[in-house]
Amino acid sequence: MSRRRRSASSTRWLQRQARDPYVRRARAEGYRARSVYKLEELDRRFRLLRPGARVLDLGAAPGSWSQYAARRGCRVVAVDRLEMAPIEGVVVVRGDIREAATQRAMAAALGGPAEVVLSDLAPDATGDRTTDRLRAEAVAEEILELLARLLRPGGWLVLKLVAGAEAAIRPLAQARFAKVRFVRPRATRAESSELYLVCEAYRPPAELPAEATAGSGPASAEVMAGGGEQPPAVTTPSAPAPSPPAGDEPAPAPGGHGRSRPRS
Ligand SMILES: C[S@@+](CC[C@H](N)C(=O)[O-])C[C@H]1O[C@@H](n2cnc3c(N)ncnc32)[C@H](O)[C@@H]1O
Repeated sequence: MSRRRRSASSTRWLQRQARDPYVRRARAEGYRARSVYKLEELDRRFRLLRPGARVLDLGAAPGSWSQYAARRGCRVVAVDRLEMAPIEGVVVVRGDIREAATQRAMAAALGGPAEVVLSDLAPDATGDRTTDRLRAEAVAEEILELLARLLRPGGWLVLKLVAGAEAAIRPLAQARFAKVRFVRPRATRAESSELYLVCEAYRPPAELPAEATAGSGPASAEVMAGGGEQPPAVTTPSAPAPSPPAGDEPAPAPGGHGRSRPRS
């Protein structure tokens, strides 16, 4: 891509951000991404997040969903393969959720099965619709399998999918949850093909995998407690995030997610 075209697309992006009411609201309310309003809508509709609930946030960076859950008084473990600036009241695990070390780390950080697993995780897009759909399906299947070790019976799952992936994933979700709904929140951009599967009342398989059950054993992935003041820990923080939380976030680190501007 030429420098001229890149700068034209950056200009369009900046103009779109400036016009977007969700971006403006996220900035005013101290959230790191406009996508927080998708979770807010789902939470208001389904009453997902209750004070004290253990919440696992998969694909969490830059962190607006974790910020929201922490402000609701939940005990949050946030997982992403990218660096993520600390959030008060949130334990951050850095790693790829498909790797065993990360799975052990997030199970240990939870300290017990979660009431809610959130996944806004987005595999790298290739631009090829079939490849992107297959990648989304593969990671969604992996998340559904991980639940046996991480989600309590009766718990909730919110799982982002790209359109087309639901045909393969819906029956797998229906086998494990009493109720499965598809939702496209209002804050979803018009051009986006994403949708969310909201799954209620988890029914775990009869036989649980032995390894990496929530609350078990140490882990080798990078784990840090929120707020940057506590030592590395696998226990959930006792205090929820203050409301309102810190507004400005640091400028983005290379390849990281310490963003100062809300994004989608
Ligand atoms: C759309 S962003 C999440 C935004 C977040 N919900 C928020 O509100 O700030 C998707 C994230 O998924 C992460 N991701 C994608 N694949 C992953 C994987 N295999 N393991 C861990 N994180 C992954 C990406 O690094 C990215 O930060």
